[in-house]
Amino acid sequence: MQYDLSNIDINGLVPDTEPDRQKYFMAKLKEYVSMREKELNRKLTMCVVTFGCQMNARDSEKLAGILLQAGFVETDKEDSDFVIYNTCTVRDNANQRVYGRLGYLKGLKKKNPNMIIALCGCMMQEPHVVEKIKTTYRFVDIIFGTHNIYKLAEILYTRLQSDRMIIDILKDTDNIVEDLPSERKFSFKQGVNIMFGCNNFCSYCIVPYVRGRERSRAVQDIINEIKALVADGVVEVMLLGQNVNSYGRGLSEEITFAQLLTEIEKIEGLERIRFMTPHPKDLSDELIDVMSKSKKICRHIHLPLQSGSSRILKLMNRHYTKEHYLELVKKIKERIPDVSVTTDIIVGFPGETEEDFLDTIDVCKQVEYDSAYTFIYSKRTGTPAAVMENQVSPEVVKDRFDRLLAVISEISAKNSGRDVGRVMDVMVEEVNDHSPNLMTGRLSNNILVHFEGCREMIGKVVKVSLEESKGFYYLGKIVD
Ligand code: 5AD
Ligand code: SF4
Repeated sequence: MQYDLSNIDINGLVPDTEPDRQKYFMAKLKEYVSMREKELNRKLTMCVVTFGCQMNARDSEKLAGILLQAGFVETDKEDSDFVIYNTCTVRDNANQRVYGRLGYLKGLKKKNPNMIIALCGCMMQEPHVVEKIKTTYRFVDIIFGTHNIYKLAEILYTRLQSDRMIIDILKDTDNIVEDLPSERKFSFKQGVNIMFGCNNFCSYCIVPYVRGRERSRAVQDIINEIKALVADGVVEVMLLGQNVNSYGRGLSEEITFAQLLTEIEKIEGLERIRFMTPHPKDLSDELIDVMSKSKKICRHIHLPLQSGSSRILKLMNRHYTKEHYLELVKKIKERIPDVSVTTDIIVGFPGETEEDFLDTIDVCKQVEYDSAYTFIYSKRTGTPAAVMENQVSPEVVKDRFDRLLAVISEISAKNSGRDVGRVMDVMVEEVNDHSPNLMTGRLSNNILVHFEGCREMIGKVVKVSLEESKGFYYLGKIVD
């Protein structure tokens, strides 16, 4: 979505309601950008670098949307006039990567002293990070958090008017600003936020502290956004939320996530619906029912397990047991044929014993995940788990992590190829990176398929016969 900024009076009063206020600052920025272009006799460039999850990726599209609207040209190189790092802090290695890359940016800024460097996102919601940047990385120009990304134009304009580092961080918000411009990375698919924040407080997780309390978007705002996307050529949406099952809590209208899906399914022209991420503790029978009857909701559930040990799950504050989780997966598989189940697992949570770990392995073997993201537990300051006793030694964690990986790959190797010989619907996504006569598409269950085709097929659902399994993907042939 883009605005028409031509009739905004940039010498008039600054509006105090959103999004008008931001439109005003985008128009101001646009004037600045075009003035600088004339001085430099070239375009001003910008680069948005995303760390972390799909939520962050979606936020980055909004950041890029604002900058494009202001007249910047996007590049994928960091030697740009404006560079913004949208950071993640879910595990410490995400933070370390940002500090490492900042060293590189410092060198680039020496060559181009007019370069503006901004940091935003989850890591910036942590006071100790901001302190460190203020003292050790003084060449950073702008710091803002997760609650005010919509304000980028205003914050950047403010920086251009002063010489000081601008820090603008809200602890929390109940505000959702709608109708902002946004970049679209793919013509045919798009992530759509349905809620922000998280109220679960799993004991290892920093997200509730950096993304704030749970807020759901109004149904009509979501539906309107998807209808506009469909009118613009989108056929697949990914509904995004930290805990999609609790969608609707706190809204004036009574609605569950399953009911929201039913409403979205009615949108004509939309072909596929995906969502991320449900929590096993409140994945309802109603949702399984809606999925089993749906023609559009994809046959894929990402259901984070975290640990297979009921004792550890209790310490993690997950509100389900090993038995409950297994029961749930059984129900899902019975009711939704061909569904693919994937997961997230943490190894080495404080106090995890060999016996607890073997429970995790046991669940993996019983569920037979199509794929699993495995993480080594990372201590996050401020979370309850960070001060728990019995932190597991790095050697033991490493050993368990390797054993878990071996089990997961054995299971996915066994699972892969189970659909060879079948003809299935494939959404064509892109030209294959390695061979230009091959197209890459995705099955409803999220598995990739490569087959001979042409660029014109992108964004269409085609029937493909799955001829051969290559582990993580299939080779197929179009059938007409
Ligand atoms: N340490 C390791 N992994 C974590 N995750 C969240 N917090 C931590 C942590 N402190 C993992 C969980 C979650 C995924 C997004 O990241 O598995 O589902
Ligand atoms: Fe996403 Fe969580 Fe990382 Fe923030 S901290 S980017 S919400 S994974």
